[in-house]
Amino acid sequence: MHKIGVIPGDGIGPEVIREARKVLDAVMEKRDLSLEFEEFPLGAGHYLQTGETVSEETLQRLARKKAILLGAMGDPRVKPGILEKGILLRLRFHFDQYVNLRPVRLYEGVPNPLAGKNKKIDMTVVRENTEDFYVGLGGRVRGGLSKSAFELIRRAYEVKFDVGIDLQNETELAFQIGVISRHGARRVIEYAFQLAKMKELKLVTSVDKANVLTEVYGLWREEVDVLAAKYKIKREFQYVDAVALHMVRSPERFQLLVTPNLFGDILTDLGAALQGGLGFAPSGNINPSGVSMFEPVHGSAPDIAGKKKANPVGAILSAGLMLDTIGEKEAAADIERAVMQVLKSRKFRTADIGGKTSTPKVGDAIVSRVLSRR
Ligand code: NAD
Ligand code: IPM
Ligand code: MN
Repeated sequence: MHKIGVIPGDGIGPEVIREARKVLDAVMEKRDLSLEFEEFPLGAGHYLQTGETVSEETLQRLARKKAILLGAMGDPRVKPGILEKGILLRLRFHFDQYVNLRPVRLYEGVPNPLAGKNKKIDMTVVRENTEDFYVGLGGRVRGGLSKSAFELIRRAYEVKFDVGIDLQNETELAFQIGVISRHGARRVIEYAFQLAKMKELKLVTSVDKANVLTEVYGLWREEVDVLAAKYKIKREFQYVDAVALHMVRSPERFQLLVTPNLFGDILTDLGAALQGGLGFAPSGNINPSGVSMFEPVHGSAPDIAGKKKANPVGAILSAGLMLDTIGEKEAAADIERAVMQVLKSRKFRTADIGGKTSTPKVGDAIVSRVLSRR
């Protein structure tokens, strides 16, 4: 039996998580698989009522789960960052989910944005998930001399920063510090090479901007070289701007991309576009020896929330990725197969790809494929 924490969250989060739960119920019925769900009402509603993002007690309860399934965070009524940083990033950092695994695969039957090109799109993005410009160190200073002190606390290390700023002839500035630690780079890059080896891939592409952000991504590159030699897998370095170009022009050339946090965030929305749209993209925030958390790549989509228009496929594939990661390989394969059959039939399409099928009807179609014998 696996205990699963469920955080539906904001906007379309609860709508797509409902469908993912239905599909998980179906695989439980089909296989000898037992999952026990507990819902956590984190998000805008809870925050607006109580002023709390996530409590210590909730973190402790989540820590006892095998995995977490999350919808989305973010609400127009709440200032940007409060829920995203206060809940989503808090959970990623607290559980030290240092890998953000984002498969980019275009399934048959999904309209290809690179129309007419008929390109095979199947790559894995391994995004670092605890460092870079996401560490949240920064501030604003106005006039004269100021000093700021920061602490960066991660499971494996604690670092203190003292920043003195003398605004000589400028009135105001804002700054934000990006951090790549040796440990932080090594562990996610090692994960990427291990995955490449397991999948028998021939090439790992490292994404950075080492021509400008020479310190942080210089260190990153050193670790890529160490691990490429250790795993005897070919590696290439590409600047993030060039990767954006190549992902559109020749996506078939990529097998696995390993990328620092911020570039990985941006490139996986581009990747989502290649796989049919944000509604198709799954992800896993993974701590290989801890509690991992699975969520679609998309956000709370306030523009379509409550209209039964959301595409639930990304959330359903995220539930599949969750089962795969916790070792339930057959059940995970059932989910992917059912999704593939439904997409291939072209009969159940949400509005994002020009269809009229509602969110629950797409979920129902996938459930019935899971349960059918064929
Ligand atoms: P978004 O991903 O919510 O939406 C971008 C566009 O894609 C919108 O037009 C939306 O309607 C569409 N879209 C997204 N998911 C879809 C789906 N499943 N089916 C059909 N269409 C879909 O990004 P945004 O608008 O930039 O952000 C909205 C809020 O979500 C913000 O508060 C943001 O911070 C937050 N956000 C959260 C996450 C997360 O929880 N992981 C990710 C991204 C953004
Ligand atoms: C994502 C989101 C988050 C990120 C935000 C909401 C903090 O965009 O999961 O891709 O930047 O990681
Ligand atoms: Mn994003």
